[in-house]
Amino acid sequence: MRFRGGGRGSRRGFLRSGSAAALLAGAVPGRTVWPNARIKVGVIGCGSVSRRYLPHLKACGAVELVSVCDKRPERARAAAEKFGVPHHYPHVDDFLGGAAFDLMVNLTDMQEHGRLNRFGLEAGRHVWSEKPLANTVDDGRGLLELARARGLGIWAAPVVVLSPQFRFMREQVRSGRLGRVAAAHAAYGHLGPDWSAFFYEEGGGSLPDLGVYNLTTLTALLGPARAVTAMTSIVTPRRVVEDKGSIAVEAEDNAMVLIDHGGGTLSHVQCGFNYFDPGGHDGAGRELPTIAVTGTKGTMHLVGYDWAPKGVDLATADHPSLVRHATDTQGYVWEMGASHVAECLAAGTEPGVSAEQALHVLEIIVAAREAQRTGQRQELATSFPWPVAG
Ligand SMILES: NC(=O)c1ccc[n+]([C@@H]2O[C@H](COP(=O)([O-])OP(=O)(O)OC[C@H]3O[C@@H](n4cnc5c(N)ncnc54)[C@H](O)[C@@H]3O)[C@@H](O)[C@H]2O)c1
Repeated sequence: MRFRGGGRGSRRGFLRSGSAAALLAGAVPGRTVWPNARIKVGVIGCGSVSRRYLPHLKACGAVELVSVCDKRPERARAAAEKFGVPHHYPHVDDFLGGAAFDLMVNLTDMQEHGRLNRFGLEAGRHVWSEKPLANTVDDGRGLLELARARGLGIWAAPVVVLSPQFRFMREQVRSGRLGRVAAAHAAYGHLGPDWSAFFYEEGGGSLPDLGVYNLTTLTALLGPARAVTAMTSIVTPRRVVEDKGSIAVEAEDNAMVLIDHGGGTLSHVQCGFNYFDPGGHDGAGRELPTIAVTGTKGTMHLVGYDWAPKGVDLATADHPSLVRHATDTQGYVWEMGASHVAECLAAGTEPGVSAEQALHVLEIIVAAREAQRTGQRQELATSFPWPVAG
């Protein structure tokens, strides 16, 4: 780690910098807010996903894009030029010690998240991270404690709970229209990214890249996991990727996870990098349900992926034929998380996603791997406030 805090990148330097000019005690206790101001944003990681985030951030009225960073400097320079970002840097130290900003958006390799998110918090920045939040449960817990101690916020993708389709499903569970919910199933897979090796290296894998969406949806709908068991495997032992050529696959590319939510409710998530899908990776035109939730008085099916939902088919004892609901996405897109957090920071409101849930989902992923290694059911230690507000 080259970044040591202090100087321009320190919390004190940041507060002096002027970006936090209109400090007020906000609606979120202990957190600085900038009412009616634009949130200065720095983005680290200018690869594939940044091409979805940067246009969304650029169009967000609560955001002022200040800097971009990538260890491949040509990527940072190209992103800065394309999106009119005034500063670009080749290293996290220069990025955090350079032009002041309020919110760090971390879009780097999964293996870098824990380390870089910590640097961001140590430098006094709020942090939005692509998934996973961190790479171990201890690191994730440490990030939450550090953020709390410094009066900062940290949040992580995915934002599936912000979609109108998720809200509709949550309402069916809450209102009891499904009766006693017994079981749920969720699936997400494609043939795997072909641009970067990190997806297949240790710390990567289909669980933190893909399963994370379904795990977030199902725990938000049915409650935190009490225990999990799982089987994982590697279906394709070698891959060819753009950045490193032919590589050995180290992390699971195929996973089946069983979750006990308590109260008798069980669910199942399957994910993998070996799924042929006639609809393609982007989910365009995907009409097949990917999530099913079933109770004693009703059943519902999410049409499309939870990160790109198209509607919810519902049948109940009162109305036993399937009817499609919630077909309007109302502006929800999966890449909106950092913009959403910036809007909430500017308004002094609490974002609709919680770091506690991101940490819990990380623990499920770690526990699933441990279940595969040992053949044993794993009890979980973390939880999150549930039912999710909103
Ligand atoms: N690509 C997608 O469609 C997509 C969708 C949703 C989420 N994600 C998530 O986004 C993250 C990034 O995925 P991606 O597909 O954009 O990968 P990518 O390889 O295309 O981009 C990652 C970028 O981060 C940079 N980087 C890595 N370590 C760095 C460091 N220490 N300092 C500065 N730059 C660094 C790399 O040079 C690279 O340009 C992952 O967590 C992934 O799970 C990707």
